[in-house]
Amino acid sequence: MSKWIAACQTDDIDPEDVIPFQHEGVDYAIYRSPDDDFYATAGHCTHERMLLCDGLVMDNTIECPKHNGRFDYTTGRAAGAPVLVDLQTYPVRVEDGTVFIGIG
Ligand code: FES
Repeated sequence: MSKWIAACQTDDIDPEDVIPFQHEGVDYAIYRSPDDDFYATAGHCTHERMLLCDGLVMDNTIECPKHNGRFDYTTGRAAGAPVLVDLQTYPVRVEDGTVFIGIG
Protein backbone atom coordinates (compact mmCIF):
# COMPACT_ATOMS: atom_id res chain seq x y z
CA MET A 1 0.00 0.00 0.00
CA SER A 2 1.35 3.40 -0.99
CA LYS A 3 1.79 6.42 1.20
CA TRP A 4 0.19 9.34 -0.67
CA ILE A 5 2.00 12.68 -0.65
CA ALA A 6 0.57 15.96 -1.95
CA ALA A 7 3.07 17.02 -4.61
CA CYS A 8 1.55 20.10 -6.26
CA GLN A 9 -1.61 21.66 -7.62
CA THR A 10 -2.80 20.72 -11.10
CA ASP A 11 -2.44 24.38 -12.14
CA ASP A 12 1.26 24.29 -11.21
CA ILE A 13 2.03 22.26 -14.36
CA ASP A 14 1.24 23.25 -17.91
CA PRO A 15 0.23 20.53 -20.38
CA GLU A 16 3.31 18.82 -21.88
CA ASP A 17 5.53 20.00 -19.05
CA VAL A 18 7.41 18.67 -16.03
CA ILE A 19 8.15 20.15 -12.62
CA PRO A 20 10.40 19.02 -9.77
CA PHE A 21 9.15 17.82 -6.39
CA GLN A 22 11.28 16.89 -3.40
CA HIS A 23 10.15 14.93 -0.37
CA GLU A 24 12.39 13.82 2.51
CA GLY A 25 15.49 14.43 0.41
CA VAL A 26 14.26 12.43 -2.59
CA ASP A 27 13.74 14.10 -5.97
CA TYR A 28 10.71 13.33 -8.11
CA ALA A 29 9.51 14.63 -11.48
CA ILE A 30 5.79 15.35 -11.99
CA TYR A 31 4.40 15.45 -15.54
CA ARG A 32 1.24 16.63 -17.23
CA SER A 33 0.57 14.93 -20.54
CA PRO A 34 -1.00 16.54 -23.63
CA ASP A 35 -4.21 14.71 -22.57
CA ASP A 36 -4.12 16.37 -19.11
CA ASP A 37 -3.17 13.18 -17.29
CA PHE A 38 -0.58 13.37 -14.50
CA TYR A 39 2.42 11.09 -13.96
CA ALA A 40 5.37 10.86 -11.59
CA THR A 41 8.84 9.38 -11.95
CA ALA A 42 12.15 9.44 -10.13
CA GLY A 43 13.68 12.88 -10.43
CA HIS A 44 17.04 11.83 -11.86
CA CYS A 45 18.01 10.27 -15.17
CA THR A 46 19.26 6.69 -14.81
CA HIS A 47 22.28 7.46 -17.01
CA GLU A 48 24.28 10.05 -15.08
CA ARG A 49 21.63 11.30 -12.65
CA MET A 50 20.83 14.61 -14.34
CA LEU A 51 17.66 16.25 -12.99
CA LEU A 52 14.88 15.44 -15.44
CA CYS A 53 12.80 18.50 -14.53
CA ASP A 54 15.22 20.51 -16.68
CA GLY A 55 14.43 18.27 -19.65
CA LEU A 56 12.01 18.55 -22.52
CA VAL A 57 8.57 16.91 -22.57
CA MET A 58 7.34 15.73 -25.96
CA ASP A 59 4.05 13.83 -25.99
CA ASN A 60 4.62 11.04 -23.43
CA THR A 61 8.42 11.30 -23.50
CA ILE A 62 10.91 13.15 -21.31
CA GLU A 63 14.24 14.01 -22.94
CA CYS A 64 17.13 14.34 -20.52
CA PRO A 65 18.93 17.70 -20.86
CA LYS A 66 22.43 16.23 -20.48
CA HIS A 67 22.81 13.63 -23.25
CA ASN A 68 19.29 13.70 -24.73
CA GLY A 69 18.40 10.23 -23.48
CA ARG A 70 14.66 9.61 -23.57
CA PHE A 71 12.13 7.83 -21.37
CA ASP A 72 8.44 7.16 -21.72
CA TYR A 73 7.35 8.89 -18.51
CA THR A 74 4.04 6.98 -18.44
CA THR A 75 5.85 3.63 -18.09
CA GLY A 76 9.41 4.61 -17.20
CA ARG A 77 10.68 2.66 -20.21
CA ALA A 78 14.11 3.79 -21.45
CA ALA A 79 13.99 4.51 -25.19
CA GLY A 80 17.57 3.43 -25.93
CA ALA A 81 21.21 4.50 -25.63
CA PRO A 82 22.57 6.28 -23.72
CA VAL A 83 19.82 5.43 -21.21
CA LEU A 84 19.67 1.68 -20.69
CA VAL A 85 17.94 1.47 -17.30
CA ASP A 86 14.22 2.20 -16.99
CA LEU A 87 13.02 5.06 -14.80
CA GLN A 88 11.11 4.33 -11.61
CA THR A 89 7.49 5.46 -11.81
CA TYR A 90 5.01 6.21 -9.02
CA PRO A 91 1.21 6.04 -8.93
CA VAL A 92 -0.58 9.37 -9.15
CA ARG A 93 -4.07 10.45 -8.19
CA VAL A 94 -5.74 13.86 -8.42
CA GLU A 95 -8.24 15.10 -5.85
CA ASP A 96 -9.80 18.57 -5.81
CA GLY A 97 -7.00 20.03 -7.90
CA THR A 98 -4.18 18.50 -5.86
CA VAL A 99 -1.77 15.97 -7.37
CA PHE A 100 -0.80 13.16 -4.99
CA ILE A 101 1.97 10.64 -5.64
CA GLY A 102 2.16 7.24 -4.04
CA ILE A 103 5.51 6.42 -2.48
CA GLY A 104 6.75 3.71 -0.14
S1 FES B 1 22.43 11.99 -17.86
FE1 FES B 1 20.55 11.69 -18.87
S2 FES B 1 21.10 10.92 -20.81
FE2 FES B 1 22.97 11.13 -19.76
